[in-house]
Amino acid sequence: MSGATWTTADIPDLTGRTALVTGPTVGGLGFHTALELARHGARVALAGRTSAKLDAAAGAITDEVPGALLEHVVVDLADLASVRAAADDAARLGPIDLLVNNAGIMASPHRRTADGLESQMATNHFGPFLLTGLLLDQVVASGDGRIVNLSSLAHRLAHSAPLGDPRARRRYSRWRVYGQSKLANLLFTFELDRRLRRAGLPVTALAAHPGFAGTHLVVNGQLGTTQGRISSILDAAVRAVSQSAEAGAWPTLMAATADLPGGTYVGPGGPGQASGPPRIVDTTPLARDEVAQRRLWELSEATVGLRWP
Ligand SMILES: NC(=O)c1ccc[n+]([C@@H]2O[C@H](COP(=O)([O-])OP(=O)(O)OC[C@H]3O[C@@H](n4cnc5c(N)ncnc54)[C@H](OP(=O)(O)O)[C@@H]3O)[C@@H](O)[C@H]2O)c1
Repeated sequence: MSGATWTTADIPDLTGRTALVTGPTVGGLGFHTALELARHGARVALAGRTSAKLDAAAGAITDEVPGALLEHVVVDLADLASVRAAADDAARLGPIDLLVNNAGIMASPHRRTADGLESQMATNHFGPFLLTGLLLDQVVASGDGRIVNLSSLAHRLAHSAPLGDPRARRRYSRWRVYGQSKLANLLFTFELDRRLRRAGLPVTALAAHPGFAGTHLVVNGQLGTTQGRISSILDAAVRAVSQSAEAGAWPTLMAATADLPGGTYVGPGGPGQASGPPRIVDTTPLARDEVAQRRLWELSEATVGLRWP
């Protein structure tokens, strides 16, 4: 880093590197992550569930970075068959130097996916777990690969790891499950990094959180759509009390590009980690619980039907 504070000026030249970023919808953290990676020369695969939104994101990136090298991968992370199809499609990308598991939903109403999973856990954890496992060979082929998972301050809401049968019916609390899904992102990151080291693979896994950033996350969770007048009003209300989506992407970008060891967690450095320039931050003790990490890994393998690495 050039000074005590990390800035996007610290991102190295990424020419010749390939990144895959999930959830790159315009206005969100994934968009700003993809934009900044493209600005620094990376080829960026935009991975999202709607082709039209991928087109819009690619158009907005190209407006700022003419000649940006962009690819599209259509994936619905809440659908394990879609994740498998997307991973097959992503084989054409060749080696992947950076995988950013950014996409997510927050505090949505109860819904079961086609796989019988609760939708927050499916979208935020099981889908990304399967995608990462299926893309791992390509990340290994980089020779110096990195995986960054998006967690949240909300991991602190979780008093226990989500280790029960993920298809069992139980009383649903939107925020408890969101907190558990974001705890799962950390448990997954730390177990993944340990397994990669144990297997001697040239890949590290890190995590980041954006503090509180003005994106579509609240409207997506509450209304299930970013379109319409109510969505615009709610989006504006969130933006008024949070840091920008651009600044919210900085912890991800630092975790993705700074010289940091695997297992590092990056978040905003301001009061309460809600905003500010990124720095290394701490987690709850539960997120560092190696027994919970291992048990979630085994449960996730059984749930998605893939044993890895
Ligand atoms: N914003 C914050 O303050 C905050 C705080 C803590 C953590 N985070 C984390 O940051 C990450 C990004 O969120 P954001 O704030 O940028 O929210 P956002 O603006 O709502 O963006 C979320 C992205 O995830 C995509 N997505 C949702 N469900 C998907 C699915 N089933 N398959 C594929 N893509 C899907 C969305 O696509 P569509 O456009 O198609 O819906 C969108 O591109 C999330 O993991 C979130 O938990 C955000």
